[in-house]
Amino acid sequence: MTAEYKVHGDVAVITLNNPPVNGLGLATRQGITAGLEKAQADAAVKAIVITGAGKAFSGGADIREFGSPKAIAEPNLLSVILAVENSTKPVVAAVHSIAMGGGLELSLGCHYRIAAPDCNVALPEVKLGLIPGAGGTMRLPRVMGVETALNMIVSGEAVKSELLFAQPGQKLFDRLAKSADSLLDEALAFAREVAGKRPLPRVRDLPCKHPMGDAYFQFARNMVKGMAKNFPAPVKCVDAVEAATKKKFDEGMLAERETFMNLMLTPESRALRHIFMAERAASKIPDVPEDTPKREIRKVAVIGAGTMGGGISMNFLNAGIPVTILEMKQEALDRGTATMRKNYEAQVKKGKLKQDKYDQRMSLLSTTLKYEDLKDADLVIEAVFEDMGVKQTVFETLDKVMKPGAILASNTSTLDVNKIASFTKRPQDVVGMHFFSPANVMKLLEVVRGEKTAKDVLATVMAIAKKIKKTAVVSGVCDGFIGNRMIEQYSRQAGFLLDEGATPQQVDRAIEKFGFAMGPFRMGDLAGNDIGWAIRKRRAQERPDMKYSRTADKLCELGRFGQKTGAGWYDYQQGKRDAIPSRLVEDMVAAHRKEQGIEPRKISDDEIVQRLVFSLVNEGAHILEEGIASKASDIDMVYLTGYGFPVHRGGPMLYADQVGLFNVMQAMKRFQQNPRDDAKFWEPAPLIRKLVAEGKGFNG
Ligand code: NAI
Repeated sequence: MTAEYKVHGDVAVITLNNPPVNGLGLATRQGITAGLEKAQADAAVKAIVITGAGKAFSGGADIREFGSPKAIAEPNLLSVILAVENSTKPVVAAVHSIAMGGGLELSLGCHYRIAAPDCNVALPEVKLGLIPGAGGTMRLPRVMGVETALNMIVSGEAVKSELLFAQPGQKLFDRLAKSADSLLDEALAFAREVAGKRPLPRVRDLPCKHPMGDAYFQFARNMVKGMAKNFPAPVKCVDAVEAATKKKFDEGMLAERETFMNLMLTPESRALRHIFMAERAASKIPDVPEDTPKREIRKVAVIGAGTMGGGISMNFLNAGIPVTILEMKQEALDRGTATMRKNYEAQVKKGKLKQDKYDQRMSLLSTTLKYEDLKDADLVIEAVFEDMGVKQTVFETLDKVMKPGAILASNTSTLDVNKIASFTKRPQDVVGMHFFSPANVMKLLEVVRGEKTAKDVLATVMAIAKKIKKTAVVSGVCDGFIGNRMIEQYSRQAGFLLDEGATPQQVDRAIEKFGFAMGPFRMGDLAGNDIGWAIRKRRAQERPDMKYSRTADKLCELGRFGQKTGAGWYDYQQGKRDAIPSRLVEDMVAAHRKEQGIEPRKISDDEIVQRLVFSLVNEGAHILEEGIASKASDIDMVYLTGYGFPVHRGGPMLYADQVGLFNVMQAMKRFQQNPRDDAKFWEPAPLIRKLVAEGKGFNG
């Protein structure tokens, strides 16, 4: 049973019981209507209370039913709310902990509402690219006033019940209970108090007006348009609330429903719903059950206090976990900790961190030059130079000193984690934890699963990732793991585009218009063009058959490594980050074309976007096929959280689905005909061919 029915004297109580947050799935909805019917039929029952068991009143729609026929099967939420509103006996909603989305809408259909303090109240549909679809835009303005309601609907943010209760003129809550513990008793008493009152108050009968009318909504629309940029839903929220002030209730409800259904079909909403599910799915590893026992992580050690080591340490300090950093020399330790201090101090200055919090965090940090001091750590993360010899020495030493059961992680971005594990006698305890720079800011953590990595090690690392607020995605072992392996193909395409006639600024502009935070050339200048140069030199030895444009090498030969050298693909003024198109680079690219006998051609922005994005898609498909990633949505999470892929597109794999894999494959075949490009690379991955033949996409 996902909704229980119990009679307490003359009051019937319907308790939603669908853990974890009493999602309004089909069985729960049926439970509510069944309870209402029983209560109507029982002459001894004078009033009804609806409440939620466990950790919530209700979190709204049951995400497990998303996209399934159950989600809209009758009684749908609108019908349930109507049944509540039409009850001939008063219905009191007793809300606590969480009243969100459909949960809040359900309470708005009740005749009375009593809230426990500290209840999170929200209509968060906009975060999924939607507007509330069960009367939220029609009823919330009637009880909270147009402005507060619109703020809540457009932002989707939760507000505490006691704050809402304190708003003058609010009609959302009739009572504020003393505590969550006394809520049910207080709700029963309230129900008895109102049991005989008629007519039953209905939110739909309340007036809904704004004194400034059109001017207010025009102003709101302009504000929201600027903020919403790539998303249609926020402006539709304004339209819907405006309709609440202008249309009759039932007409407004129809308009709300129509907008909701239309938004459901937009690529932006599909992208946001995909991300919502993908985020949750990423933490699940197919062959590692969720109840796998985890190792306890009380102390962390970090080897290397360079760019990455410092940032990695900050994550744990921020989460209240003590960290010891080890370096080879005292100067390196001093430099590393000074950078961390500077970083925290900047946050204090900006008011983002309180001084006492900063002191508290730094007090959890210790430094050492001796491995002996690390032996009690439960997790050690190595972030030394990217050199197998250096990693070998470090891991052999760790194997000797660390206590049994400690997790030994490497932050390597390119090296073979299986080989690193083989330097120890405990390969089951070795795992890759690939952070992204700046490690204290970037959300992504690639968790690299070695051949022998134990399941409880993986489960522990995924749990600790959550604790330090990272989005962890599991990757198998391969060169570049998921993210960098794909970006290499993307960078190769960027190089070919220059050779064929584009300029760095045209390529950057086209992909930034598509929505990327930064184009490949501005990105190269920020990260340092020398990093890619080193990788290409290695590639030239490992895979001499791999075709790539030489322009980036030529740029590096000129010492133009990017912002850090004051020049890269663009010129930079001292101390500034603005990318200024460079005459010298344009001449260099033109000279290179001439050398190669290439006649430049005009390249459209569409071609630029397709070649860059579909190169990610084809490599992503190989990664899936090889089992390096276990699901397409994991690849999307990597790109959304680590590479600035536009959120409204939902990641490269979902984008390919939205374009249609058949169309993507046709484009790849077209690119194969281009003699300047790499025909072998553009051979569509077998997985793409298979999915096209089955009429499917990466996400079903
Ligand atoms: P870095 O050069 O800034 O720092 C490395 C630090 O390790 C230096 O302070 C050095 O003194 C110390 N070190 C070297 N050998 C050591 C040893 N045997 N014992 C103790 N300390 C030692 O390098 P960065 O950029 O922090 O990179 C570290 C690791 O992180 C590399 O494996 C790199 O591939 C990886 N990585 C780097 C990213 C980046 O954007 N910089 C991104 C993701 C991973």
